Amino acid sequence: MVDEAGEIPIVMVDRFRMHQVLGNLVGNAVKFTPPGGQVRISAVAVDGNVELRVADAGMGIAPEELPKIFDRFFRSSSSQKMALPGTGLGLAIAKAMVEGHGGRLSVMSRREQGSTFTIAFPAGDAGAVRGPQPAPHNGAKPVEVAG
Ligand SMILES: Nc1ncnc2c1ncn2[C@@H]1O[C@H](COP(=O)(O)OP(=O)(O)OP(=O)(O)O)[C@@H](O)[C@H]1O
Ligand SMILES: [Mg+2]
Repeated sequence: MVDEAGEIPIVMVDRFRMHQVLGNLVGNAVKFTPPGGQVRISAVAVDGNVELRVADAGMGIAPEELPKIFDRFFRSSSSQKMALPGTGLGLAIAKAMVEGHGGRLSVMSRREQGSTFTIAFPAGDAGAVRGPQPAPHNGAKPVEVAG
């Protein structure tokens, strides 16, 4: 399910990299939610930021494991127990990519109730790619994402 609330300011991002980030977040939401569960993707403007949220109603993450969720190779004990596939690299890469674009990636989660991952970018000029950037992928051009 995809929601868009009101006018969403433009944010400049690298299309390939954001595709990879969203692909991992949505892939995780589907992977860690039982069949028939809901995954909701939304875009909202909040306090000068544009937030992209991927929310699921899946197994959630235990509070003691939440601080490790963006560590390389981390996989929660329940996902290992259930033998769900994965290398534990997707979120570490996603975080580095979002931060490389001047944004923040955060998570809120409750065990057995689901998780919401939020990418926040500063809107407008402040949201333009800045600071040291990874080399563009195969000549990929930044793309404007508008509401
Ligand atoms: N939406 C979610 N709900 C519950 N647990 C999650 C969710 N997203 C991530 N996790 C937990 O965080 C771990 C790390 O996620 P990450 O995307 O980095 O790795 P992965 O999906 O296991 O493997 P990869 O993305 O490298 O294929 C997961 O193994 C899982 O334990
Ligand atoms: Mg993943």
